[in-house]
Amino acid sequence: MKGIILAGGRGSRLYPLTYATNKHLLPVYDQPMIYYPISTLVSAGIDEIMIVTGGQHAGDFLPVLRNGRDFGIRQLEYAYQEENGGIAQALSFAKTFADEEPICVILGDNTTDADIRPAVEGFRGGATIFLKEVPDPHRFGCPVFSADDPARIIDIEEKPANPRSPYAVTGLYIYDAQIFDYIGGLEPSDRGELEITDANNRYLQDGQLDWHELDGFWSDAGTFESLYRTTRYWAEKKLGKQTADRVAAGIFASTP
Ligand code: DAU
Repeated sequence: MKGIILAGGRGSRLYPLTYATNKHLLPVYDQPMIYYPISTLVSAGIDEIMIVTGGQHAGDFLPVLRNGRDFGIRQLEYAYQEENGGIAQALSFAKTFADEEPICVILGDNTTDADIRPAVEGFRGGATIFLKEVPDPHRFGCPVFSADDPARIIDIEEKPANPRSPYAVTGLYIYDAQIFDYIGGLEPSDRGELEITDANNRYLQDGQLDWHELDGFWSDAGTFESLYRTTRYWAEKKLGKQTADRVAAGIFASTP
């Protein structure tokens, strides 16, 4: 399976941080944000990866990632999205790279420590999405479950004012080659974007949408609050909670 990381968009919710570089190169504790989705894919056995990016700082990725070998990537490719036409539009630029094979897609501002390898290895076609229970589902794509069968999703709503479940549709997706036909048939949403949620709903209508709950931490990092939360999580995970608390209190282990 091939991997695609979507790292376009303006990052305008993080102005002024994103005046100087692409959002996905901002630090999440000790690494640039994009290292985390790369690690999620590589840990799942995916070593052919395309990064779709855009904007005036697209060139900043090259000195950071180079050819990807340091990260366990065998083949690293880049594509350029001219406008901020949405996640589904960004994904459409990976059609030739995907070359009819199944793809694992991850948004460049999503970090997780969940192991998605079983889902990658068990993928048999259609689409697989990953859910995570969150305190603020109105910020995300949000599934609606059947009243008769609580395991069956009947709709996905994008940023609903009144979410009908406590779950977020995370920015990790596995698709078969049909995704590019579905994207080709999408119309821009009210916010002028081709929405990945609309493509997922097409799979749902065709009875081809499967889902898993992510087992582990997951967060986006596209707002100040979520970037802070994400950074704090990874600092605590890497340092250990006790050390992280000591560091926050100004007690550093090493002296200059
Ligand atoms: O984080 C998960 C959520 O991501 C999902 O629950 C939503 O269904 C999905 O629409 C998306 O919501 P956001 O509004 O938070 O997405 P955002 O516009 O912040 O874009 C997320 C990433 O997608 C961004 O870091 C880079 C990529 N992207 C986005 C746009 C709009 C692109 O590559 N190109 C784009 O044009």
